[in-house]
Amino acid sequence: MKSMKYEKHMRGPSVHHTIKETIAGGLEDPFYVVEVEDILRKHKNWLHKMPRIRPFYAVKCNQQPIMLETLAALGIGFDCASKAEIDTVLSMGVLPSNIIYANPCKTRSYIKHAAENSVDLMTFDNVEELYKVAALHPKARLILRLKVDDSHSVCRFSMKFGADPAKAHLLLEEAKRLELNVVGISFHVGSGCESASSFSDAISDARRVFDIGLRMGFDMNILDIGGGFPGTSDPRVSFDEIAFAVNQALDKHFPAVDDDGQETKISIIAEPGRYYAASAFTLVANVIAKRVQDIPEEGRQEIMYYLNDGVYGSFNCIIFDHWDVHPKALLSSSELLFRQYYPSVVWGPTCDSMDCIKRDVILPEMEVGEWLYFPEMGAYTIAAASNFNGFQIPTVKYNVTPQIMEILRHLPSWPRIAKVLDVPVMERSFAVSMEHPVGGCIPVH
Ligand SMILES: Cc1ncc(COP(=O)(O)O)c(C=O)c1O
Repeated sequence: MKSMKYEKHMRGPSVHHTIKETIAGGLEDPFYVVEVEDILRKHKNWLHKMPRIRPFYAVKCNQQPIMLETLAALGIGFDCASKAEIDTVLSMGVLPSNIIYANPCKTRSYIKHAAENSVDLMTFDNVEELYKVAALHPKARLILRLKVDDSHSVCRFSMKFGADPAKAHLLLEEAKRLELNVVGISFHVGSGCESASSFSDAISDARRVFDIGLRMGFDMNILDIGGGFPGTSDPRVSFDEIAFAVNQALDKHFPAVDDDGQETKISIIAEPGRYYAASAFTLVANVIAKRVQDIPEEGRQEIMYYLNDGVYGSFNCIIFDHWDVHPKALLSSSELLFRQYYPSVVWGPTCDSMDCIKRDVILPEMEVGEWLYFPEMGAYTIAAASNFNGFQIPTVKYNVTPQIMEILRHLPSWPRIAKVLDVPVMERSFAVSMEHPVGGCIPVH
């Protein structure tokens, strides 16, 4: 593995270094390398491009402790969809006011649990939900989730969630009758959104229903623009394009100041998952078996590789997240140059023939025991991985620069972070912030 070339998609030479070190330790199992600095970079970019919008990270996307701890230390809020997600986030010292329970169809005992733990911001999109909330959490601050056009997104949600904007007034009337506290409107344009105008159109729809709420006398003060923001380096529509469209639509429909020059006091929030998680995680998997296969009808051969992670593991994203993955050979530049390249198929390790990671891919010939890596694999991968057939879910290694490590060491949450990183806690100073349990401690400007 000498003089390995640093490839475009590998997030930094230091990630490459961590991969090399891990492999040199004799590991054969699949693993992730998380570049912590990438999470910080993403947040800095978010603040720069959409300064009006406060992100509430969608925990479902990747609940690895390093993700959650880093985001909590940045002062980000959290979108939780279940009791377990709420408990995970609360156990990190996140304030209940920094949580949105963003599941419009909630289990009754979970609503009760939210009430007992002062988590009061939650979404709804149907009348039954209003009855449950009225009975179990009457003081909740409710956000009405609208059905919006999600036809430009890879993962669509509108067939399952969201109230029809044309009938939203009926839900608001029922909420009024039940004396519930509706405070805002939300939507989700679908995950992996490939159209910036989906956001603008949804913001315009949201404004109409927001105004209905205001006219009914609700104290409408939150717009939640959901998730759907890209997190990889080469999306069809860039984050910048989406940010531009969102800012424009907000200026038009939810301006920061009204006609009299007064601040409008409407909080704009979002629920990004993929945006924060995708690019920080590189997956590395071992070639555990190999087979050359004749294709007589085409007069050629292809090589079939079997990796120790597959569709039942990290690559569940191929099925659930409709994701296309791009294997890369972990070889030195001279090895990449001098090896023969063949049409190849990459399989997962289980006994199921559905467990196929990639067909028709050209790869340099790999040997058993060598490695393939997959950049930008942080979103909807390890979060839903199983150990079906007895195969191990990848372990997680961390890449933390000395500068970031120094910042982390000064956080009140450092003892927990040190445990995650498996480094000694040692002495630390609480100089940065003692008043706030977690938030705002990592400087991002
Ligand atoms: C309610 C809700 N909010 C936010 C998200 C995160 O979406 P994304 O990862 O596309 O940003 C999801 C994804 O499933 C969701 O269901």
